[in-house]
Amino acid sequence: MRGAWLIVGFALMLGATGWAADVSPAERGRRALLERSFLPATIPVQAYQNAWKQWGGELREAPQPYAEAFMQRYGLHPAPYPNNGYPMGLREGRTLFGTRALATDCMLCHGGSILGQSYVGLGNVTLDIQAFYEELAAAAGLKWKTPFRFCNVRGTSEAGAFSVYLLGLREPDLTLAKKRNDFGLCDTLCEDVPAWWLLKKKRTMYHTGGADARSVRSLMQFMLSPLNPAETFAKEEATFADIRAFLLSLEPPKYPFPIDQTLARQGEVVYRQHCARCHGTYGPDGEYPNKIVPLEVIGTDRTRYDGISHEFGRFYNRSWFAKEKPGWFVDDYAARWSPGYQAPPLDGIWATAPYFHNGSVPTLEHVLNSKTRPKIFTRSYRTGREDYDPVRVGWRYQELPHGPDPSAPAIERRKVYDTTQPGRGNGGHTFGDELSDAERRAVIEYLKTL
Ligand code: HEC
Ligand code: HEC
Repeated sequence: MRGAWLIVGFALMLGATGWAADVSPAERGRRALLERSFLPATIPVQAYQNAWKQWGGELREAPQPYAEAFMQRYGLHPAPYPNNGYPMGLREGRTLFGTRALATDCMLCHGGSILGQSYVGLGNVTLDIQAFYEELAAAAGLKWKTPFRFCNVRGTSEAGAFSVYLLGLREPDLTLAKKRNDFGLCDTLCEDVPAWWLLKKKRTMYHTGGADARSVRSLMQFMLSPLNPAETFAKEEATFADIRAFLLSLEPPKYPFPIDQTLARQGEVVYRQHCARCHGTYGPDGEYPNKIVPLEVIGTDRTRYDGISHEFGRFYNRSWFAKEKPGWFVDDYAARWSPGYQAPPLDGIWATAPYFHNGSVPTLEHVLNSKTRPKIFTRSYRTGREDYDPVRVGWRYQELPHGPDPSAPAIERRKVYDTTQPGRGNGGHTFGDELSDAERRAVIEYLKTL
């Protein structure tokens, strides 16, 4: 009997430590990403519970069910993994003093949903990260103004500005700087979040292809809270190598509605003639050319391209982030000059509307017919069946005759995508304009199969 207990005890111990030998790096990465927090928890649990008091209107008590109302307000999605009732992006953790509080994580931006189904690695295209931080701070009783705009339009964020601002608080060795380095911060980049399942095809990453896709340290920029000391980065590097392995294991969801296979095969022929040289080919012998297309050729909004300065790039390259593999004849994964924007792989493209690096175009039909793109529009900022357009493939939207009423609350104004505003231009990428309507329909049908 005693022996049996010893065996059980030993088995439990192995379970608890996750016996390294039979756990793959991707599985370790999955656990680290979904079970741990890489930022100290700073949001009091009460701030979450009381956030509704910031929502204005006639509310006298918390709307029910509260978790649902909270997700709707900020554009968050149910976690498809155990998360104690919190949405993706928010998790329980510990403050620097060891007390319980909430922290944000990668899935705030990289956890999305489509047709009512949540996915880790699908970009969150409904998030209002400005309202999220402002109102949680106010609910915690803090008078805090975000040091720059966290987002200008719902569903996009100023992730690049976060890096520029936060790295500016550090020395190259990541100790805190005495004075903030000003790299010319631009907070109208209006960035859409790339799907993580594309990373495995890429040699360079981020919208401009400005970073080596092998870089683990580059992903750690998202840990740059001033509360994380320099040592934490070195300590967590191996964990982030596992997280990267997990990202490489992700696959896109399949298009869930019927596909006209004959039309799709016709579309593939058109696709190969007009699109494959930049976006690659698919199927067993598929090849991804990793093309970065010069601005003059692509012609999409250039704010994201210009908005992250060379000065920042030079500082980044002197910093710990770019010193991943130092030594002779070894590529250091430095930030590199880019001529424009990277043509992304189109796997799972049906699920990742709105399109382009700034999310300025609501459907594939509009990507392929630049003259019809809506100039000012809004959408439900929900992701259910009724919000999805399977014909044009993307989000249903409502075109508006003018921009938002300046007297409307900011959270409402951010629901309007006005392509005349900085960072939000919807021009360029006119490669579909030369197609006939029938060819365009066929290409869209083909894109559903990817
Ligand atoms: C505030 C929102 C936000 C958070 C939080 C965030 N990301 Fe991102 N991430 C983005 C945006 C936006 C981009 C595209 C940036 C660009 O190129 O302009 C991006 C790009 C990436 C890419 C490159 C994808 C590609 O194909 O080019 C990876 C990988 C990535 N993030 C990983 C992470 C990890 C890991 C975390 C957590 C440690 C994280 N991100 C946290 C918004 C976010
Ligand atoms: C000369 C190269 C080039 C050609 C040809 C080209 N594209 Fe693109 N495409 C790009 C680049 C670069 C982007 C990214 C632009 C941006 O985000 O600003 C892009 C973006 C897209 C997007 C949006 C991706 C996303 O995730 O937001 C889709 C969809 C797309 N292209 C489909 C097509 C189709 C279909 C064709 C053929 C009719 C085509 N492209 C032809 C370079 C090209």
